[in-house]
Amino acid sequence: MAGVILLRTTDALVARRVEVVAVAAGLATAPAMTTPPPDPAALAGLVVELEDAGSLDLITAARSAAPDCTIVAFLSQPDPELWRRAEAAGADVVTTRGRVDRALGETLTDRLSGRRRARRIRLAPLAEFAGRLGYVGRVEDTPVGPIALYHLEGRLWAIADSCPHAGASLCEGELDGDVVTCPRHGSQFRVTDGARLRGPADLGVSTFPVVVEVGDAFVEMPA
Ligand code: FES
Repeated sequence: MAGVILLRTTDALVARRVEVVAVAAGLATAPAMTTPPPDPAALAGLVVELEDAGSLDLITAARSAAPDCTIVAFLSQPDPELWRRAEAAGADVVTTRGRVDRALGETLTDRLSGRRRARRIRLAPLAEFAGRLGYVGRVEDTPVGPIALYHLEGRLWAIADSCPHAGASLCEGELDGDVVTCPRHGSQFRVTDGARLRGPADLGVSTFPVVVEVGDAFVEMPA
């Protein structure tokens, strides 16, 4: 891989750590001063501080100029809306200040090896689920359809919100312990592992890992 990683941050420590990762990958770094980037052909990546004015425009411009480049955006303070907007603008990864170099290294390695990591979808701050048990929410738009969220046994569990029998919404079904009953024909599934406990459904329901990072919950989609 040859090219340049553009960097927009006022944090000298982040800049140094990004440079170490870039050099290890055979790349140079340069300040991202302009929008769009000056030479799309040489653009291998972009690392950008989201609190910086114009950062979202820069992500959009970089993604449009070099669709395969690696874009890592980072935040100092929790800001779910800004996080979502950076993802929508085209960032491969949105992370916290302390994880920038690691996220960049992982993403560059994945690009070189052709490997694709699971995609994370932000759910909500973990504090939102505190004190609420059982069914706690639904995520409508994901690449695998709607997902139902349950808070049981001190953990969050995510399952596909579509019954394998005829597609009914499981989150409308009754929950007894960790067992949900499909509201349409009565199939039962265990929320914690998706196992089918009773038909007429022939199959269990898909489950998705929920991960917690710096106080926020994410569900991981298959790559
Ligand atoms: S749709 Fe769920 S059991 Fe038929």
